[in-house]
Amino acid sequence: MRVILVFVSSLDGKVTKWDDPFVRSWSSQEDQAYFSRIWNDSRLIVMGSSTFNSDPLRSTPERLVVVMTRNPEEYEKYMVPGHLEFTAETPAKLTSRLKQEGYDQMLLVGGPLVAASFLKEKLVNELWLTIEPKIFGTGKNIITGEKLDIELQLRSCERVNNYGTLITRYDVLSYRDA
Ligand SMILES: NC(=O)c1ccc[n+]([C@@H]2O[C@H](COP(=O)([O-])OP(=O)(O)OC[C@H]3O[C@@H](n4cnc5c(N)ncnc54)[C@H](OP(=O)(O)O)[C@@H]3O)[C@@H](O)[C@H]2O)c1
Repeated sequence: MRVILVFVSSLDGKVTKWDDPFVRSWSSQEDQAYFSRIWNDSRLIVMGSSTFNSDPLRSTPERLVVVMTRNPEEYEKYMVPGHLEFTAETPAKLTSRLKQEGYDQMLLVGGPLVAASFLKEKLVNELWLTIEPKIFGTGKNIITGEKLDIELQLRSCERVNNYGTLITRYDVLSYRDA
């Protein structure tokens, strides 16, 4: 299973602007178009419950979206088996089950808590990071809640507008115990 972590962040590493949960209020049109493209190209998408709650989505037949929560029963009204599911599995259990079910790539779309838990379990292979030339000072950091020591290598970097929004892709090279 190839696990790809996807984020858009400010120059100071914030993935939310202050306490506003809506990323689309500040990310560039170019990033939003890019995110739609990679979303539409994915058969499997995983996110944390806070990210889901900030912008609840409807299921579509083309893909499976899995939302991680300790309380899946609270989300029964949204559940569409095979398309929109809620799970209390650990990142490792979830990844290995989905691999057995035939998925070979997972787009992990945040937020920071879920991202950190996948990184802690050494499950992420790539980071696709859009860097917006903005500074927010406060907001959620891209990765939170875990002590990590991970080395990555830049594979590609594309400037997509006049402001200098950068769409980057990194490979994870190694995980060290922190
Ligand atoms: N800029 C970006 O690219 C980007 C991307 C994604 C999200 N965001 C923003 O980030 C914010 C949400 O991020 P967040 O870090 O607070 O929350 P999150 O990572 O989206 O979700 C965390 C929640 O998921 C549940 N959970 C279940 N299993 C977990 C596990 N193994 N590890 C961690 N959490 C687990 C827990 O909630 P329960 O068990 O209580 O349900 C936990 O509180 C939103 O405002 C969203 O808009 C930004």
